[in-house]
Amino acid sequence: MPHVEIRNLSKEYNSVKAIDGISFNVEKGEIFTIIGPTGAGKTTLLHLIDMLDTPTFGSIHYDGINLNLLSEQEKVAIRRRMGLVFQKPVVFKTDVYKNIAYGLNLRNIEKEVVERKVKDAIKLVGLSHIENIEKREAKSLSGGEVQKIALARTIVTEPKLLLLDEPTANLDPTNVAILEDVIQSINYERKMTVIMATHNMFQAERLGNKVAFLFDGKLIEVGSVDAIFHEPREELTKAFIEGKLVY
Ligand SMILES: Nc1ncnc2c1ncn2[C@@H]1O[C@H](COP(=O)(O)OP(=O)(O)OP(=O)(O)O)[C@@H](O)[C@H]1O
Ligand SMILES: [Mg+2]
Repeated sequence: MPHVEIRNLSKEYNSVKAIDGISFNVEKGEIFTIIGPTGAGKTTLLHLIDMLDTPTFGSIHYDGINLNLLSEQEKVAIRRRMGLVFQKPVVFKTDVYKNIAYGLNLRNIEKEVVERKVKDAIKLVGLSHIENIEKREAKSLSGGEVQKIALARTIVTEPKLLLLDEPTANLDPTNVAILEDVIQSINYERKMTVIMATHNMFQAERLGNKVAFLFDGKLIEVGSVDAIFHEPREELTKAFIEGKLVY
């Protein structure tokens, strides 16, 4: 059974078809990247998977469960197995420790365990070199640091499915590489399935097992990294990866 199965999914906002009749599967353990230009529908798709929004047509199945048919209570239970890092992450007006511990405290986890997990997460995302980082006011951090806090806050809850929306958009090349390593290691060592939206085709090529190319709400092509980047079947995919797509 696929981990996530998207069936004939559409999302319309007034007259805008943000997602237009797409279907694909994500298998357990994959890093699945969604590429496509601005406005292609990447964020909308991630929000639908995370149940922040409901489809206009079609359905999403998580471990075989149709998300459309869940009660609010069941949604909360399923959402706890997922973690979404927003494209524009926000931090709470408190210190870094409380920001990262937030989801663990919601789950009533023992204080000592929370402390250990928060420390591990800070180290994992590459923030432990900042002196007294746990006590820093989160609002005082740089854009890239906030992005790392947002990732730490999500992975600390050990979701089975990690949804990442442009996770390296605010980072310099060194930190892009650090975060790509983090994503790869949590996928491999902690067995999290990752669905990641990115503008950055090179990132998709470096990280993805599978790639879906979205354009104008439509799924143009889906396949392995090799197939999409070296033998694309569609002219639109070819134009996009060659940087020649006009839109
Ligand atoms: N709440 C909304 N109301 C109206 N239109 C929306 C809403 N959310 C998204 N859209 C529209 O749906 C389309 C897809 O938007 P989406 O944010 O999913 O694209 P994206 O691929 O994530 O773009 P980007 O790469 O810039 O982040 C856009 O045309 C956008 O304006
Ligand atoms: Mg987006």
